[in-house]
Amino acid sequence: MTLHDVFSLYEERLHLVELKINRLLKNKIPQIPLIGRHIISSGGKRLRPLFHLISSDLAGYRGEVNIEMAGIIELIHTASLLHDDVVDIADTRRGKPTANSLWGNQVVILAGDFLYSNALRIAVMQKNQGIMETLSVATTRMAEGELLQLNRIGDLEIKEEEYFEIISAKTGALISAACRLGAILCGLSKKEENALAGFGMKTGIVFQMADDILDYTADENDLGKKLCKDLEEGKITLPILYILTKADEDETLEIKNIIKEEFSEKGTSRIMDLLKKYDSIEMSFHKARMLIDEAMAELSIFPDSPAKEALLTIADYSLQREK
Ligand code: IPE
Ligand code: IPE
Ligand code: MG
Ligand code: MG
Repeated sequence: MTLHDVFSLYEERLHLVELKINRLLKNKIPQIPLIGRHIISSGGKRLRPLFHLISSDLAGYRGEVNIEMAGIIELIHTASLLHDDVVDIADTRRGKPTANSLWGNQVVILAGDFLYSNALRIAVMQKNQGIMETLSVATTRMAEGELLQLNRIGDLEIKEEEYFEIISAKTGALISAACRLGAILCGLSKKEENALAGFGMKTGIVFQMADDILDYTADENDLGKKLCKDLEEGKITLPILYILTKADEDETLEIKNIIKEEFSEKGTSRIMDLLKKYDSIEMSFHKARMLIDEAMAELSIFPDSPAKEALLTIADYSLQREK
């Protein structure tokens, strides 16, 4: 099964999710539909709704609440991107100007707050404690992840464990929740629920690792964001961490200066040289590959099915992706 097959299989349901999202963006306060539609219509892979729809299929779910859940999950993701671009002072997202660059930080923060709380408000209507616990844990973890990351900006002393703590919170938590909610909708056993959540967490971590690798290796047009943005933002991600474990004192100082100075083409190309010299991209991929194998192993308790194959396909894609 290819990623294309997976998207074709879920095309109709993803379309229903899209309609749901658009309905949830209706509001008499003009900034909500304006900012919401701007970011939603700019694209996005809709991967988190897909994780949820497939997980609920794997669990054997037959109702329609998964469409609503998928919409809620994508709105939470959207809110996190609006806030993230303010924090990161980013000017492009999904190949378009960011909302903050168009309308300023104040209104974008508030619109993001609205999307978060409205998503949770809609979820409450399900009157399902498991759903509420899962979503509130995920959103709390996401906020913690962004704060932990902020505390480590420009800090070359950051440890690999801290990097993994940050990305499991800021990105793993929501993908894990998307998968767990599939199990919850169907009332699967705790063991099965945890297996799906574990799969989502590990795949989500790999998804962010791939993002951090792509920041140095992607085609800028495909990515829809600028390259080398992470280091410019002072974010020490795994490829840089792997340079730092091997670099000598002079090289470490050089990296420190590249981060401190106004980012230049010279700095960027020096980083690219060091990534190559220390095999950092290959090492990051290797680590991610091990983790994706662990993610896939979480699903071994489920019998083979098209849904299981689809999950394995998007797990693989999370690592291999080019955008
Ligand atoms: C971007 O997520 C933020 C990260 C967690 C890396 P996606 O890469 O899923 O973004 P869209 O939704 O497809 O734009
Ligand atoms: C991921 O953080 C965004 C969230 C999980 C909220 P990044 O800052 O690394 O993502 P991009 O590169 O802006 O998409
Ligand atoms: Mg960012
Ligand atoms: Mg960020």
